[in-house]
Amino acid sequence: MHRILEPEIMADAEQSLAYANADFSISNQSFVDHVLTYDTGPLRHVIDIGCGPCNVMVRLADACPDIHITAIDGSAAMIDLAGKTVRASGHESRIAVIQGYIPGLALPEHGFDAVLSKDLLHHLPDPMVLWSEIQRLGRTGAAVHVMDLIRPDTPQDAYDIVAKVAPDAHTILRQDFYNSLCAAFTIDEVNAQLQQVGLPLQIRQTSDRHMLISGTLP
Ligand SMILES: C[S@@+](CC[C@H](N)C(=O)[O-])C[C@H]1O[C@@H](n2cnc3c(N)ncnc32)[C@H](O)[C@@H]1O
Repeated sequence: MHRILEPEIMADAEQSLAYANADFSISNQSFVDHVLTYDTGPLRHVIDIGCGPCNVMVRLADACPDIHITAIDGSAAMIDLAGKTVRASGHESRIAVIQGYIPGLALPEHGFDAVLSKDLLHHLPDPMVLWSEIQRLGRTGAAVHVMDLIRPDTPQDAYDIVAKVAPDAHTILRQDFYNSLCAAFTIDEVNAQLQQVGLPLQIRQTSDRHMLISGTLP
């Protein structure tokens, strides 16, 4: 099927809360484990683009006592939730939560040892915005880890994935998940994006619905 765009920013408070309360612990932890096992040297200054409620970055901060994370999201509702999550975790001195939008983040160029993003790519009408921002924000040799959904072949396939993975989830969350699957890219499309922007990253399919795009900046 063709890509069907969903609203870019998760601005709705009820939608954001349903997302924040959902149990994404398995994919969140697998992303963090991947970041930690990827051999790119010390992670001191890290940015997470599209941090949502910050559940993922709290896990990363739990595992890395020396890390400093800049977590940005375009949604005021998500940033509000992220602030609460970070304060509850006790990591507020190491995780800065900022409302910000890509493109156009007012952050210094090439200031980060790693650029991370989980489940943001499929929200973007123009995916090149993320790849350009990664090139602008990461230093030479910075680690890049982007995890996102893979668009299924048909709407029925998307429906089946939602039914399998989230049978008892909140209605808002199920609709959100379905919309996200339909808005996601295929691995071939992401490959073409990386070639267009000249980023030497590797794409790996990690489940029936997830891909992981990783590497270091030249
Ligand atoms: C599906 S959530 C993922 C949240 C988090 N990374 C996670 O995995 O739990 C995607 C987030 O990206 C944000 N977003 C979408 N487009 C954005 C943009 N252009 N700039 C900044 N944030 C954006 C949305 O507001 C939303 O909170």
